[in-house]
Amino acid sequence: MPKPTIAIIGPGRAGSALGRALHSAGYTIAAVGGRNPDNVRNLATELGGRACQSPATTIDLADLTILAVPDDVILPLSTDMVDSLCSAAGKSVVHLSGAQDRAALRPLAQQGGLRTGVFHPLQTFRRGPQATQNVAGTYFGIDADAPFRDQLMQLARDIGGHPFDLTGVDRALYHAAAVFAANYPTTLLAEAIALASQAGLETETARHGMTALLAGAVKNLTELSPAEAITGPASRGDQGTIQRHLDALKNDPGLQRLYQLLADRTKQLNPNKEAAA
Ligand SMILES: NC(=O)c1ccc[n+]([C@@H]2O[C@H](COP(=O)([O-])OP(=O)(O)OC[C@H]3O[C@@H](n4cnc5c(N)ncnc54)[C@H](OP(=O)(O)O)[C@@H]3O)[C@@H](O)[C@H]2O)c1
Repeated sequence: MPKPTIAIIGPGRAGSALGRALHSAGYTIAAVGGRNPDNVRNLATELGGRACQSPATTIDLADLTILAVPDDVILPLSTDMVDSLCSAAGKSVVHLSGAQDRAALRPLAQQGGLRTGVFHPLQTFRRGPQATQNVAGTYFGIDADAPFRDQLMQLARDIGGHPFDLTGVDRALYHAAAVFAANYPTTLLAEAIALASQAGLETETARHGMTALLAGAVKNLTELSPAEAITGPASRGDQGTIQRHLDALKNDPGLQRLYQLLADRTKQLNPNKEAAA
């Protein structure tokens, strides 16, 4: 299957990470477009593509355009671009949002005649070149009609990813799941660091110590199911320890409620363990 030439609109976290990964995998990055001229120029120069200030011009320069803009910008940008397209024949466009389906690209499909799809990296990307390290091994949720779907599946494989079909998947529930997996553990870690500092640990020790603890849990989770991997008082049934924690959190009722809720959910993870305790 010949490799399509690629355009990236939105040289932010996800757009830059995927652009760099595709470039390394031998794809030609024909153009980079976006809002901030400096960001556009920097990524275009690095990846050898044309820097475009007009998103519609960017689409015209490549076989496949990746719309890597914030979720709420996808539909308005698609609507704006339709009138300025020169020639959309044979061209395709995808967005990267897990929360939205192909409807966000409908103007480009219906009025522009482009093939449209969703190419959602089930991953978290930071700013900067280090983000590319997270691309290999990522699961990519794909929603597109054949044969475009096959092209996107191949694209995912070429950058070391695992493609899967998002057709018919409830996007709001699916994306909520992704937020639980990727974002809220980070929020919980921030709470853990603050509590450990409050308890008397040096700030740096609290941060590195708690982060190493989370890394250990994630490492175990790569080999074990959550029910097998979970440790701690709620999974052991140590109710006395749980009560001491709840007492220690009495000055922060919101966090105390959150702790109780998580303890209850943790007990439900492995009901057999609870019965045995
Ligand atoms: N980051 C992740 O971990 C991740 C993971 C999976 C999926 N995604 C998806 O990837 C997409 C982008 O997210 P992100 O995290 O990469 O966001 P981001 O880092 O904020 O980057 C967004 C990019 O879009 C540009 N942009 C914003 N508004 C624009 C507009 N009106 N017209 C043209 N360009 C505009 C920004 O321009 P400037 O250069 O001026 O800031 C920036 O380059 C979203 O759909 C998100 O759901 C992200």
